[in-house]
Amino acid sequence: MEEQKQDRGSFGSNFGFLMAAIGSAVGLGNIWGFPYKMGKCGGFAFLIVYLCLAVFVGLCVMVGEMSLGRKTGQGVVGAYHKLAAKFTWVGWAGIITGFCILCFYLVLGGMVTRYACGYLLAMFGVDTFGDPATFFGRFLVNGGGMVLWFFIFTLINVLIVSGGIQGGIEKFNKIAMPALFFILVAVLIYVACQPGAGDGYKFMFAANFSVFSDPEVGFLKVLKTAAGQMFFSLSLGMGCMITYGSYLEKKEDIQKNSVIVVCCDTMMAILAGCVVLPACAAFGLDYGGGPGLLFSTMQIVFSKMGGFIGNLMGFLFYFLVFLAALSSSISILEVCTAYSVDKNMAAGKGGKDGGRKKATILFAIGIFVFGLLVALDGLGSGVAGGAAIKTPAELFGIGVKGWNDCWLDFYDMISEGILMPLGAMVMSLLIGWKWGTNMVLEECEADGKKAWGRGFFNACFKFITPIGMVVVLYGQLTGFFG
Ligand code: TRP
Repeated sequence: MEEQKQDRGSFGSNFGFLMAAIGSAVGLGNIWGFPYKMGKCGGFAFLIVYLCLAVFVGLCVMVGEMSLGRKTGQGVVGAYHKLAAKFTWVGWAGIITGFCILCFYLVLGGMVTRYACGYLLAMFGVDTFGDPATFFGRFLVNGGGMVLWFFIFTLINVLIVSGGIQGGIEKFNKIAMPALFFILVAVLIYVACQPGAGDGYKFMFAANFSVFSDPEVGFLKVLKTAAGQMFFSLSLGMGCMITYGSYLEKKEDIQKNSVIVVCCDTMMAILAGCVVLPACAAFGLDYGGGPGLLFSTMQIVFSKMGGFIGNLMGFLFYFLVFLAALSSSISILEVCTAYSVDKNMAAGKGGKDGGRKKATILFAIGIFVFGLLVALDGLGSGVAGGAAIKTPAELFGIGVKGWNDCWLDFYDMISEGILMPLGAMVMSLLIGWKWGTNMVLEECEADGKKAWGRGFFNACFKFITPIGMVVVLYGQLTGFFG
């Protein structure tokens, strides 16, 4: 073998790391999931439960993941292998989770790209939507269109991730994240000026816990919805932050970075809520539109705004969602790529960058093939609804449940429903009871500063997070199978 120095890469600055980690966290979960779940789960009450969970569960898992990554200097499989070979399977679960999430996340990203391009053209007078009230329904069952946009979005992901940590991921996030923030504020200000927007804020911020006694919803449902949302939104439970942490320099402050990421992610979710919910209020549309909120309700909002300004706002809004989705999906793809790179490097193979390009392309092809199911079933329209292929329920000829009404939910069940809460629970238990909270805090102290919150983190790793994960797991499983 030729003598060649292999370099798995690292972030060029703490700012770059922060932008990448925030980019990973801020995604469709914030802009789509958070407002619609808030809309369905009582607004303010949901917000309070969410905040408590972010502080008592999210923060400690974030610190834990970043520490494991930096300590081992490996991606998710390598990290678990190095710390406890018996638990390498937790790392594998992370890879499978990432693969499954991308099978639908990249399809959704493609759809967002389609909307952003559509509004861009509309600003120049080219209408590609037709009747906005029916566009979403028509687009969904247009298999060719769905696959094309899925492909385009996947390709963009491959280009960025194969560029490496500094040359691809960091570079993109350093521009995209500030841009995203400013666009969000601009759209927010415009929405705030619309008459009738006030009701949206009232729904979000006026103290009201009546949802807890609502027989249709109730406290437990709010709790499990918020817990699942918090987890997904912070990119936890599959080793995303382990992977990013492995590219972080020892001199940087993990605890401070974790607090910043959790705060920014939460703030962006609330800001996104402050765009979507008041916009619905101003134009007389229902908050409880569920998953259709992003693609269908918001499109009606922009058509009601009308004219050039409606198209401009539409473009800005979907472009911002595009940036958010892309910065998240590359972080998931990086989990897969890093696994191959680490493996190649351990064997001295793959050249200077450990075969990064090839690994990224191969994973992307695999994801594209499995993701075709999601792109082609019309998000649950199925053959009955005019889509190209059957939903899992149609295929297996069984009654419709949460996990089988469309392929998206099928992949979501495997990842968000089972593997993610399980992964986080095992990680917490390992840290709390086997390796000791000290191991994590020692890694946090590698920057030379004393770690804070020893008792807090100890209680979180040992008890609060594992119990929280049982609630999430239970909530997800009853949601999917109940
Ligand atoms: N957090 C992102 C969002 O809110 C999605 C995401 C990125 C993610 N990386 C992840 C979810 C890792 C789970 C695990 O859209």
